[in-house]
Amino acid sequence: MEDYVRIFDTTLRDGEQCPGAAMSEDEKVEIAQHLARMKVDIIEAGFPVSSPVQFKAVERISREIEGPVICGLARALRPDLEAARDALKPAKQKRIHTFIASSPIHMKHKLGKSPSEVLEMARLAVKMARDFVTDVEFSPEDATRSEWEFLRELVEAVIEEGATTINIPDTVGYTTPQEYMDLFRFLKKEVKGADKVIFSAHCHNDLGLAVANSLATVLAGGRQIECTINGIGERAGNTAMEEVVMALKTRKDAFCVETKIDSTLITRGSHLVKTITGMVVQPNKAIVGANAFAHESGIHQDGVIKNRQTYEIMTPESVGLKSNRMVLGRHSGRAGFKDRVIRMGFDPKPEEIDNAYNRFLEIADKKKEVFDEDIAALFQAEISRSQVDEKYRLLSFEQNTGSNQTPSSKISLQIKGEVKQGEAHGDGPVDSIFKAIGQVTGLSPLLSRLVISPVTEGTDAMAEASVTLEEGERRVVGKGDSTDIIEACAKAYINALNRL
Ligand code: KIV
Ligand code: ZN
Repeated sequence: MEDYVRIFDTTLRDGEQCPGAAMSEDEKVEIAQHLARMKVDIIEAGFPVSSPVQFKAVERISREIEGPVICGLARALRPDLEAARDALKPAKQKRIHTFIASSPIHMKHKLGKSPSEVLEMARLAVKMARDFVTDVEFSPEDATRSEWEFLRELVEAVIEEGATTINIPDTVGYTTPQEYMDLFRFLKKEVKGADKVIFSAHCHNDLGLAVANSLATVLAGGRQIECTINGIGERAGNTAMEEVVMALKTRKDAFCVETKIDSTLITRGSHLVKTITGMVVQPNKAIVGANAFAHESGIHQDGVIKNRQTYEIMTPESVGLKSNRMVLGRHSGRAGFKDRVIRMGFDPKPEEIDNAYNRFLEIADKKKEVFDEDIAALFQAEISRSQVDEKYRLLSFEQNTGSNQTPSSKISLQIKGEVKQGEAHGDGPVDSIFKAIGQVTGLSPLLSRLVISPVTEGTDAMAEASVTLEEGERRVVGKGDSTDIIEACAKAYINALNRL
């Protein structure tokens, strides 16, 4: 059996379907660039027929991202398939992923179709997709609650029509490792033509089993895993890419397969998705949680000092966490800074380097040590700023706050080249500065989420803030960074206003 497992990333499609994770086109491209650097095999870039925004994002990723196969999702319907074909046109390597529900409950209540009608629609969809592209994936939605004999018939039919990958979704996160493994074994054994296609796992995490279920299929001959960074996705999320990749790597003795993923880019990818979506990662989350490599108890620390392997099954470096993280200081030159940024996987434009270098000097003045993570955060914030027209820019602010007074903020903004000032009181320092910004700009969109996270440890750590604003149908996420959390929040708020 082939010993290679394809990593199919669906952060931009299934991941984006989770509440509050909608991303702008620029943000999707930024994530896709990182996925390409990580060497994922397939990027599911979106669902082109679902909206013009989705269509444009898939088209742009198809044009700009090289390396991975770019995939677009389509129901088993002509308009969906045509939209996927059109959006994927510029891609060098493209895949159409078409799906239709196959479980009794979905066929009856959602589709109102009989099994034979579903089978016919699936056949036609795969046939049409094959007229458009050579690489076609088919998914029987809710496969794990479908009748196995019907699944066998359906999968056989779409293979006959030319499907090249068969994905078996556990749409509602219901299956167990043993059952899912048995289903893969059954299909691989009983379906005519099974040896010509790749079988793929697609799991949701409703019972916390998504990663375990996905890994189980590898033992049953599955050779593609669909996953998202940080496991984001509908409800309890999807299979977490970082967990699957590190499990396959760390327990190669058990799974006997490889992936192409550059695991040292995992931490950056996790961070990127966190800051773009504003969805925080729980501290004890495997691989990318803040505590994933922290040894707190005396016994553990003592063991690790004597020999890291006593309590460490993988190194922090293998996921891109540097143990020796101090990289640059106040006297580091622009060339060294640029070199560092490039080695961290960014592809900086000259003006981004200039602006980020100036920010780096400001931070190096305030902070004793500047770590890789600080540089990544400030560079990310710079990219975020450069993606939008900076109609509003923070010049300075002052605050008055204390235990027995109502916090107030004075703020100075540059608005289209003109300097404007405002002042406001609020329930807390953040509330008062947001109100002051609102007073100057005349804007008061709904603030639906505010996340502040330290980039490294220590009281002088840089903070990254992520602000989600909504106005009507529009929803944007702004980012800001500073060693001062109030300034980070103000910058994130202004970045979000610029995006609105
Ligand atoms: O979970 C699911 O069934 C899906 C399909 C569209 C593959 O995301
Ligand atoms: Zn899904």
